[in-house]
Amino acid sequence: MKKVTCTAPVNIAVIKYWGKQNEELILPINSSLSVTLHQDQLKTTTSAAASREFTEDRIWLNGKEENISHPRLQSCLREIRRLARKRRNEEGDENVSRILNDKVHICSVNNFPTAAGLASSAAGYACLVYTLAKLYGVEGELSEIARQGSGSACRSMYGGFVQWVMGERDDGKDSLAKQVEPESHWPELRVLILVATAEKKHVGSTAGMQTSVETSPLLKLRADLVVPERMEAMIESIRKKDFKAFGELTMKDSNQFHATCLDTYPPIFYLNSVSQRVISVVHQYNTYYGQTKVAYSFDAGPNAVIFMLEPTVNEFVEVVKHCFPPESNGDTYLKGLPVGSAVLSEGL
Ligand code: ADP
Ligand code: DP6
Ligand code: CO
Repeated sequence: MKKVTCTAPVNIAVIKYWGKQNEELILPINSSLSVTLHQDQLKTTTSAAASREFTEDRIWLNGKEENISHPRLQSCLREIRRLARKRRNEEGDENVSRILNDKVHICSVNNFPTAAGLASSAAGYACLVYTLAKLYGVEGELSEIARQGSGSACRSMYGGFVQWVMGERDDGKDSLAKQVEPESHWPELRVLILVATAEKKHVGSTAGMQTSVETSPLLKLRADLVVPERMEAMIESIRKKDFKAFGELTMKDSNQFHATCLDTYPPIFYLNSVSQRVISVVHQYNTYYGQTKVAYSFDAGPNAVIFMLEPTVNEFVEVVKHCFPPESNGDTYLKGLPVGSAVLSEGL
């Protein structure tokens, strides 16, 4: 039996992806950009084993067996096996040949709430693809395969600041993740996670964005008219390490994403009263200082991701503890960790 274990980090989009133009290949209606989180914070750990003894492919997620015939799991498995066959044909590698005849068992665990708007599908599918690639000994552009598991997953294949370039081709070959800057670029940047609820969301991202594409005129305007310019400005703010510009663009983009959710019919509400209070606390804090010292972003869920520079962390953590009593935000999420370093590790 051959077995491999890897971990992958979560990424949080500061220019959001919401909406597909091709459901099967997972091609987005706009490019997006994210920050990869430090793996001490939120991560997925996945083990994959191949054995002659196994009679079928199987997968367990957080200890519970899931249906392996899920089309997105099948896409990832099929694409990795295709690359493995290509390598065997080119190099005649006997080990790859042997494993290709075996079935695999996959076991994956998230150390944070699943399907609660903390990008579990991103870390989950990035980890799945990376782990399978290691098992089958394949290398190369894996973000294209991770994208076919979950769109946001392609960005978790890299550390630091990562853009998912939407691409122009119908076959999706140029719809890939690219690192804009490595994690070492902005060492003072810190990320704090505030868990408002660990509950599974009522409307998953896939279904939510489908309804938005069908019904929200605002979403189309956003994709065509807002994102292209905002993307340029965001990349420049990161390159220049301009926190004011970075923070303001991040908050505006999060707000516009949630506005498109409200513009969806029937409307989708991902933010709750705790999220709304987090938004007011951040704006009050910035107003008090007369500058943008802290910025929030919310994915498809009520949990907040807060960005700030290192000197602000201790004071802002005290503000959070004061405003939100301890049980709703465990210590693990209040570390103020830097942007994610080594993205994917192997051999745990
Ligand atoms: P989130 O906001 O957490 O990304 P989504 O609605 O996008 O929520 O996706 C949640 C789904 O992603 C889960 O129901 C599951 O199908 C998949 N997923 C989550 N974690 C993993 C994992 N570790 N391995 C494989 N799939 C996962
Ligand atoms: C709000 O990548 O989870 O987090 O591609 O259908 O799996 P699927 O959706 P998913 O959507 C993420 C939406 C978001 C914004 C983002 O991560 O860019
Ligand atoms: Co997701």
